[in-house]
Amino acid sequence: MKLASIADYRAASRRRVPRFLFDYTDGGSYAEQTLAANVGDLAAVQLDQRVLVDVSRVETRVKLLGQTLAMPVILAPVGLAGLHARRGEVQAWRAAREAGVAMALSTVSICSLAEVTTGGGAAPWFQLYLTRDKGANAAMIAEAKAQGCPALMLTVDLPTPGARYRDVRSSLTGAPGLAGTLHRAAQVAARPRWAVDVGLFGGPVAMGNLTRLVGATAPLSDYLGWLARNFDASADWDRFAWVRSLWPGPLIVKGILHPDDAALAVQHGADAIVVSNHGGRQLDGAISAVRALPAIMDRLGGCIPVLADGGVRSGLDVLRYHMLGAAAVMIGRPWVWGLGAGGQAGVAHVLQLIRAELETAMALTGRTRLA
Ligand SMILES: Cc1cc2nc3c(=O)[nH]c(=O)nc-3n(C[C@H](O)[C@H](O)[C@H](O)COP(=O)(O)O)c2cc1C
Repeated sequence: MKLASIADYRAASRRRVPRFLFDYTDGGSYAEQTLAANVGDLAAVQLDQRVLVDVSRVETRVKLLGQTLAMPVILAPVGLAGLHARRGEVQAWRAAREAGVAMALSTVSICSLAEVTTGGGAAPWFQLYLTRDKGANAAMIAEAKAQGCPALMLTVDLPTPGARYRDVRSSLTGAPGLAGTLHRAAQVAARPRWAVDVGLFGGPVAMGNLTRLVGATAPLSDYLGWLARNFDASADWDRFAWVRSLWPGPLIVKGILHPDDAALAVQHGADAIVVSNHGGRQLDGAISAVRALPAIMDRLGGCIPVLADGGVRSGLDVLRYHMLGAAAVMIGRPWVWGLGAGGQAGVAHVLQLIRAELETAMALTGRTRLA
């Protein structure tokens, strides 16, 4: 089947990767209400058609934190994304670079920052989770510096993980034991192409940035266990200040929904924020990102760039966030579906689709540039 939209890529990824992996990516926390609201509220933002404006040339380029992006789109940090295709984050970063957009590599990626930097020919942004072990965080920040990451993105909306029921049902989490291993094996057996591409030739299946902490040969379940024990629920703005003191470059705070928190981020020296509810994977019942954005824009009054993510499923959605003031948007699931369906070429095509949709939306709303 020809893939014409991001929805097509979601369906193709579902056919290609084992169920536990598809559900892990596709799902949200609890009843998935905030996930649905991210998508639904964004799609409900009306676009104003304008006519008889010269839109024979539209310019999607923007400047952000000293970088020029071909369009205001960034691949969001997605843990375990690299499982969707062989050495997946390397493939995704290559596609992002070719498309002229940025990518934030997750702390809990499959490929390490060094592998992605070497494979892509330049360092991506690095996303940091706060761990109980401050030394581990300091080492990650030092590594991001050593690799030359252009920005550090500190995710602050995960002091403790929200429950994701789909992962329990698929035996990805929830202490599945031997029965769970067999259950997952059956899901892998149903996807033989993935089993060969990733299972057989795609190793090591580890969280590349954590191997020194968990052990290079440890199974993925040990990594998940380490994480569950090591997210730091005690972190506060003092910890943010500590990260700020270690990272002189652009520091972006991800996971802000409240205007007061946005103001605190500015007070503490953030260079940008991401309005985000973690793609509806944390506090179910939280406001959608697109509804949270206007009050935050009002409060900050343009003093730092405000990024947003959650629910972008087309280039039209990029324009919707832009209209509400976002300097750029991040996409999470869409790029991972592209990776699952077609590796680097799949991510590249997802980005092409978004770009073409954005250009058309700009033309039909009478906009020639985004700057
Ligand atoms: C499977 C999955 C894993 C994620 N892992 C991380 C992560 O490791 N770090 C992080 O800051 N955000 C993580 N996120 C959140 C994304 O960065 C982003 O905020 C979210 O996916 C945006 O919503 P969208 O998927 O609707 O585009 C994850 C999201 C998904 C779907």
